[in-house]
Amino acid sequence: MNFASDNAAGAHPAVLDAIRAANEGAVASYGADRWSAELNEALAAWFGRRVFAFPVATGGAANALALSQIAPPWSAVFCHRESHINVDECGAPEFYTGGAKLVVLDGPAAKLAPATVRTALLDHPRGEVHRVQPGAVSITQMTECGTVYRPHEVGALAQIAAGAGIGLHMDGARLCNALVTLGCSPAEVTWKEGVSALSLGFTKNGAIAAEAVVFFDEAVADGFAFRRKRGGHLFSKMRFFSAQMLAMLKDDLWRDLAGAANAAASQLAAILTSSGCTLAFEVEGNEIFARLPRSVADELRKDGARFYPWGPETGDTPLYRFVCSFATREHEISAFRDRLHFQLRRS
Ligand SMILES: Cc1ncc(COP(=O)(O)O)c(C=O)c1O
Repeated sequence: MNFASDNAAGAHPAVLDAIRAANEGAVASYGADRWSAELNEALAAWFGRRVFAFPVATGGAANALALSQIAPPWSAVFCHRESHINVDECGAPEFYTGGAKLVVLDGPAAKLAPATVRTALLDHPRGEVHRVQPGAVSITQMTECGTVYRPHEVGALAQIAAGAGIGLHMDGARLCNALVTLGCSPAEVTWKEGVSALSLGFTKNGAIAAEAVVFFDEAVADGFAFRRKRGGHLFSKMRFFSAQMLAMLKDDLWRDLAGAANAAASQLAAILTSSGCTLAFEVEGNEIFARLPRSVADELRKDGARFYPWGPETGDTPLYRFVCSFATREHEISAFRDRLHFQLRRS
């Protein structure tokens, strides 16, 4: 009954097989190997165009490095208050950009609304030497509240950013989950809608450590190879990172795994709501945010269920986050259902 995080899951066997297969003999290092060449082709096919992709080890590194490429040190990165870059990256975006300021904005379900970004931009006039200058808009797909931006919503934000002469960054740590929900292609919710820098994540969806910074325009990617090297993310044994991503892309494994995670979350959400728990946000991927009586949550955790409070665990019915992954099993969900029903009856 581990619903703590999709990071709690292991790696998919196909990823392990791919790493083992790449472990044959000596090959060129630092990305000059055949797996890395194949990865560039596979990602070009995935996005339906030439892309400039740079594997890195973590989603945090992808975000910080991507932002440092598009946002100058004296600029503002407009992001949601709940965003991972604001809450969970220990200041890495500020550090890697050399001091760009995260300007946090509010919006329901961790989504930025066009009007909010427009107003924030008005508040940061270009050329005003006392103010940080517009640097980038950053959104998360799917969001930290488990919700999904529709392609037209991404496009609206990209247009506003472009109007201010800045780029739109997408933290795609769970892009695969969003793609399954949207039923659209990677292109349709990224470059076709104007995303200029993408942090593409496969780790949560079944890899060991396989993330990449992806640019869609050669000019935007210019110099990034040096930035990644300087940031300590140019792997000598790159083949193993490339092999993981190739395994995720092969035969659309990413879709099967994200689909399984999303389906498990729908099942769990149905159990929670039919048991009288309320959901704080629509479940649009593999994350659920539900209010439970605190005493029931305590007992469930004593019973072995793993999930975290979302925010302060105060009041009678705090908010809790439940995350499913490709590895969530039917029996975990039914065991949770039985324990939940039992504890609710007792409470
Ligand atoms: C929205 C989001 N972005 C990025 C990350 C990347 O984190 P890490 O640096 O731990 O790979 C996470 C991980 O929890 C996340 O939830």
